[in-house]
Amino acid sequence: MSQVLNIPPIVKETAEPGDQASRRAFLVSAGAAGLCYTAALAYPIYRYLASPEEMESSATAVTEVTLKDAQKIPSGSVLMFKFGTAPAMLIHHEDGRWIALTAVCTHLGCTVQYEPQADRIHCGCHGGVYNAYTGANVSGPPPKPLKLFKVAVNETGVNVSRT
Ligand code: FES
Repeated sequence: MSQVLNIPPIVKETAEPGDQASRRAFLVSAGAAGLCYTAALAYPIYRYLASPEEMESSATAVTEVTLKDAQKIPSGSVLMFKFGTAPAMLIHHEDGRWIALTAVCTHLGCTVQYEPQADRIHCGCHGGVYNAYTGANVSGPPPKPLKLFKVAVNETGVNVSRT
């Protein structure tokens, strides 16, 4: 007596050519998205960890700034502006002299302020005081003077440049 077995045939599954192409496209686009995401995360970290020398070189890349209509600021007042990436100040003193200095405290880098009533530059972070004409560190913790810039006043504005 013979017995007939009913066994289903073994079918080997193969991917269609279109399936492989769409899988490859998906992997390529996922890889590109991953690279973009990594770059978006890495850049702020790089900026945070950049050495002071790199930050200084980018801050000193700009050598001259023209402040349009700044010649009109009244005496006894100050104009804060950006010199490259760093804050700076242009002081028009009561005696008519124009002084431009960096506004970055040499102690720990806070932005300093001009105080016209005392005619001095003050850092609110730790009480550092600078001379408003020379930038010399007068009292408090700042170890170095503020950097002076060269000033040229004309009828259209004030030109500030590194000396
Ligand atoms: S940061 Fe200016 S006195 Fe400390």
